[in-house]
Amino acid sequence: MPTIRQPRWVRSGVDVIDAIYQRRAVREYTPRRVATELVETLIDAAIQAPSAVNQQPWAFVVVQDAELLARVSDRAKQLCLARLPPAGPGGELRDVLLDPAFRVFYDATTLIVICGRQGTSWPAEEDCCLAAQNLMLAAHALGLGTCPIGLARGALNEAATKGELGIPEDHAVVMPILVGYPRSTPDPVPREEPRILRWVRPA
Ligand SMILES: Cc1cc2nc3c(=O)[nH]c(=O)nc-3n(C[C@H](O)[C@H](O)[C@H](O)COP(=O)(O)O)c2cc1C
Repeated sequence: MPTIRQPRWVRSGVDVIDAIYQRRAVREYTPRRVATELVETLIDAAIQAPSAVNQQPWAFVVVQDAELLARVSDRAKQLCLARLPPAGPGGELRDVLLDPAFRVFYDATTLIVICGRQGTSWPAEEDCCLAAQNLMLAAHALGLGTCPIGLARGALNEAATKGELGIPEDHAVVMPILVGYPRSTPDPVPREEPRILRWVRPA
């Protein structure tokens, strides 16, 4: 019998609909560190996500070491630059990556890396992304900012980095998420009209 754990249910008073509409990708953080208990609360919210055949394939790495974050950021920039086509689309991103002042983790003090167990009966990625959204909404409700950092995924999935972070070979990094106290509130990013391809109703 698997152990049944009690969820760490924290009430925030923030309505889920408000959290969905107010969450933003935060790219400016204060130096205030996120307390261990809060990180644990966010991970607990993450694992309340649904998962295919209840496989719960997620695993988490928490990085709160500025030096390590700086090193992975440098590596991520190099790797992304190497993978960009030499010309054509991506010019703007290339300029950003070439800027020595650009840090892929901005100045966030905490990175939570959501990893997925490989070889499961259903690919782990969807489950991990659902867990990521839970984590980001919970963080918003608790006064924290977050930002998914796709730019770092390649570097985090390199064998050396995985080794350094204790990520087993049979796990892949799916979603790295910054967490911290926002220095500013980003403006809402407008959404395009949803493309509803077809809505089939009875005649
Ligand atoms: C899979 C994924 C990867 C992302 N990677 C990055 C990233 O590397 N750096 C970054 O600054 N923002 C990243 N973002 C954040 C998006 O740019 C952001 O969500 C989008 O602009 C919409 O803004 P909003 O989240 O404030 O609504 C990523 C978002 C997703 C979903």
